[in-house]
Order: sequence, then structure tokens, then C-alpha cells
Amino acid sequence: MRVIINCAASVDGKIALPSRKQTRISSEDDIARVHRLRAEADAILVGVGTILSDDPKLTVKEKYARGKNPLRVVLDTHLRTPEGAMVLNDMAPTLIFNSLKDGSYGNAELFRCPENNGHVDLNCVLSELERRGIGTLMVEGGSTVIWEFLRQGKADELNIFLGDMVIGGRDSPTVADGRGAQSIEDIVKLEFIEARRMGGGVLLRYRLPS
Ligand SMILES: NC(=O)c1ccc[n+]([C@@H]2O[C@H](COP(=O)([O-])OP(=O)(O)OC[C@H]3O[C@@H](n4cnc5c(N)ncnc54)[C@H](OP(=O)(O)O)[C@@H]3O)[C@@H](O)[C@H]2O)c1
Repeated sequence: MRVIINCAASVDGKIALPSRKQTRISSEDDIARVHRLRAEADAILVGVGTILSDDPKLTVKEKYARGKNPLRVVLDTHLRTPEGAMVLNDMAPTLIFNSLKDGSYGNAELFRCPENNGHVDLNCVLSELERRGIGTLMVEGGSTVIWEFLRQGKADELNIFLGDMVIGGRDSPTVADGRGAQSIEDIVKLEFIEARRMGGGVLLRYRLPS
């Protein structure tokens, strides 16, 4: 399975306001690119933090791309996804990985995985997605989930759109929060693929060495 992390950040690396509220960072070209990527992916994954702050639909907008909506995947250890969350609508199937139970939750399917350091275990998540035939998984955030995919070496590619703005603020979430590298050995190394101008911003693509 190919795992692509995609996110949009300000020039200072912030991905939302200090309140954690979503703000538009991507250019129109970049939004179209993200929707094309979604349409080509088999699944889109986010953490419950993104569900709680942004309430995203995680579907493909017809305006930007044609194609089926991929499977929506949420990492939600203790089932904090609100009952009325958009990700539970009937526009696409949704799979919630949690550590409590199998079964269903609104339109979503629940799949139980063990906890690892207090969160759903990524090995369990990725092997179940592979078992279901997911060939390309797009990880769309937020910062805690991105850090875990990078730290655990579970991603093949990192795409960051850098918008033409500075958000600032010590409390604004960044591309990768979590605990971060505790020593030089923990720093996640990247291999540059390309930089592409898109509207007023720049798309940066990196490969993760295997
Ligand atoms: N600009 C962008 O491209 C973009 C995209 C998406 C989100 N965002 C922003 O990102 C922010 C949300 O980021 P966030 O860090 O608060 O939340 P997040 O990364 O979306 O979700 C983190 C939560 O996911 C759960 N989780 C379950 N298993 C996990 C695992 N194995 N590894 C990591 N997390 C796991 C944990 O909660 P439990 O322990 O309760 O399960 C964890 O606290 C918002 O401000 C949002 O606007 C920006």
C-alpha cells in the first residue's frame, strides 16, 4: 500500500489558527490538486482531532475532480466522533478504527485495534486497510497523526503546500506536532522530489527513505 501524507501550511509551518480552527491556506490550484489526489486514492485518513476541529466531509468535490469517493478512515481510540459529524453522512463509506469495539456507528463501520502508547495501533490499521485492498491511502492530518506516520516510518511521500501567508502563534498546530524528535536520531529524514509553484504558493514533495 502506498501512503501519501498531504497538508497545507503557512510559510511558518502552521496548519490552522491558534484556536485550531481551520483556515483556507491552499490556492485554488492546490485545492483542485487535492481533490484529484482524493479521487485517485482508495482511502483518506484523518485523526479524530481533525473531525472535532474541522468537521470535514472528506469527499471529492465534483467541481474539481470526477470519480468515486474513497473510503473515509478515522483514527478515534475512544470513539469521540460526534454523532452528527459530516464524516458519518451517506456520501461515502466510513471506517472508524478504535480500541473499544467492532460494529457500527451511524453509517460508519467500527473496527477494533489494540492501543499502542494510548492511541490506535497503526500496524493494525494499515494491515486491515491492506486486507481490504486499499492500494493508495491519503493521510490528510492533522498534526498529531502526521507526526505518528512520519515517526513510525509508515509514509512513502509527504506533500506540503506552503501558502503565501504567516499564521504565527505558539499554539497554532504545525505540520507535525505530537512529541516530536527527542534526539537527533529521531529526526525524520526526507528526500526532496520537487517544488512546484501553484498560484501564490509552492507545493513541496518529499519521499521518505525506505
Ligand atoms: N492545513 C491542513 O492541511 C490540515 C489538515 C487537517 C487538519 N488540520 C488541522 O489540524 C488540527 C488537528 O490536528 P490534531 O493534531 O489536533 O488532531 P489529529 O492529528 O487530526 O488527531 C489526533 C488524534 O487522533 C487520535 N489517534 C488515534 N490513533 C492515533 C495514532 N495512531 N496516532 C496519532 N493519533 C491517533 C488521537 O486521539 P484519541 O487518542 O482520542 O484517539 C489523537 O489525539 C486542526 O486544527 C485542523 O484544522 C489542518
